[in-house]
Amino acid sequence: MLKAAGYEVLGVTVLPDDEAVLLNEMIKLCDEEGADVVFTTGGTGFSPRDNTPEATLKAATKAAPGIAEAMRYHSLQITDRAMLSRAVSVMRNRSLIINLPGSPKAVRECLEYILPPLSHGIAIMRGEDGECAGR
Ligand code: MTE
Repeated sequence: MLKAAGYEVLGVTVLPDDEAVLLNEMIKLCDEEGADVVFTTGGTGFSPRDNTPEATLKAATKAAPGIAEAMRYHSLQITDRAMLSRAVSVMRNRSLIINLPGSPKAVRECLEYILPPLSHGIAIMRGEDGECAGR
């Protein structure tokens, strides 16, 4: 879905549910590899092992809650279990970190909703496009 939407995928990494490991990887992807967006998948539920939102919040330099809100808004129209996702979305300097749920079906449902407007936000974040259509 990302390639079809025009993204270059820098890499895919599978990590354990360890908050410090997740945080280190997010920092590396943003600060060293210069990723525009880091998508995580899984680890957003209520299990004691689910640490992804906590790692993401520690990596944040600014809040960007609307993306996670939009995913829950859309997902709640598909399943009421969407309320069980603790996913967050944040900025880390000139990168975005967006938590997606764990199941491939849920990932597809979230990405199909957020990808169309996301490119505009990325352009603004990169300083490339300051104008919002319709403003
Ligand atoms: N969002 C969408 N769009 N579709 C889904 O099927 N599943 C939910 C929720 N979000 C779901 C969804 C369920 S069942 C859970 S437990 C939470 O995501 C957290 O998932 P995770 O722990 O795999 O991250």
